[in-house]
Amino acid sequence: MSAHTHIPVLLKETIEALAVQPGGRYIDCTLGGGGHAAAILEHSSPGGQLLGIEADPEAIKISEARLQACSNSTLLINENFVNLQAICIKYDFFPVHGILFDLGLSSFQLDSAERGFSFQREGPLDMRFSPNQEVTAADIVNTYPESDLARLIKTYGEESHSHKIARRIVQERPIKTTLHLARIIEQAIGWRRGRIHPATKTFQALRITVNQELEHLESALRQAFDLLGFEGRLVVISYHSLEDRIVKQFMQRESKDCICPPGTPTCICGHTASLKLVNKKVITPSLAEVQLNPRSRSAKLRAAEHLSTQAQDEQYRTIEKLCFSVGVETGGWRKPFLLKKLREAFAAA
Ligand SMILES: C[S@@+](CC[C@H](N)C(=O)[O-])C[C@H]1O[C@@H](n2cnc3c(N)ncnc32)[C@H](O)[C@@H]1O
Repeated sequence: MSAHTHIPVLLKETIEALAVQPGGRYIDCTLGGGGHAAAILEHSSPGGQLLGIEADPEAIKISEARLQACSNSTLLINENFVNLQAICIKYDFFPVHGILFDLGLSSFQLDSAERGFSFQREGPLDMRFSPNQEVTAADIVNTYPESDLARLIKTYGEESHSHKIARRIVQERPIKTTLHLARIIEQAIGWRRGRIHPATKTFQALRITVNQELEHLESALRQAFDLLGFEGRLVVISYHSLEDRIVKQFMQRESKDCICPPGTPTCICGHTASLKLVNKKVITPSLAEVQLNPRSRSAKLRAAEHLSTQAQDEQYRTIEKLCFSVGVETGGWRKPFLLKKLREAFAAA
């Protein structure tokens, strides 16, 4: 397994959307093989800092090796990003200039048969991002009632044949391996040449369920937003419509001054915009990128910038300037007393 087996998606666009600057502080919530992280560190040098979060201990090892040369300015944590705020508080890492989520799987996870993510490789029905998680795909497939299986395949896989698939799964239990499950799905709904593999949607649904991906994303977006400093950027790359819908709705809602239901005569919500959309239209890979890296084909990048109050802006600018110069001089982590001052000022504003 090598870090080079995962090609970072929309790399140039991500660095631009994050507006990476020298001396800036960034969080990569989905470190993977460290491809985006390496580029963030390169563009934030001198003085940049990166907190990398990754649920998979194997991926952390890969990125540790890849980012070894920048070990003075990186902090890599083997954790789930659902605990984003607690991690940042624990390590005094906020406010930050930018936060990245590059959702889904790394290529080396998909290609590794023993992880059970692929319907093309024989392996156990696992699909957990982290071995610390309790529930595997095999637990779901072999114990859920038929109606629950059908519901999750429909909701998280957007699969119109969910009932047929769920019925067949229940008839064929126990199901232990990826190829066994893929065959059962193929028998249940058939496979016409030129169409996507019939197991694609069910495997997506199982992976989302095992890792609680949508719930964790919703929670982490709210937490990320609170960690951004003045003009801080939130950048999310998603790979399927369910993830993208959550990101789009979150960014649109937080960039509006009023979120009253349509037709409400006067505003009663009192909501004020705290994000500004960086790009009105979603960013997708170029044809050249898709040809080079077919796994990038479904990627969608959305970015938003944090809007702060005037009081926050002034305080943040003054103290940040001070921190920035010290960060550059020390070439690494900022002095703790300055971080403390920055936090206090931010809390007071
Ligand atoms: C598409 S890959 C990231 C690749 C990375 N940007 C790179 O350039 O190498 C997504 C990574 O996020 C991790 N991941 C997914 N959900 C996570 C979560 N809730 N918490 C932490 N890591 C997560 C996966 O294990 C995977 O390694």
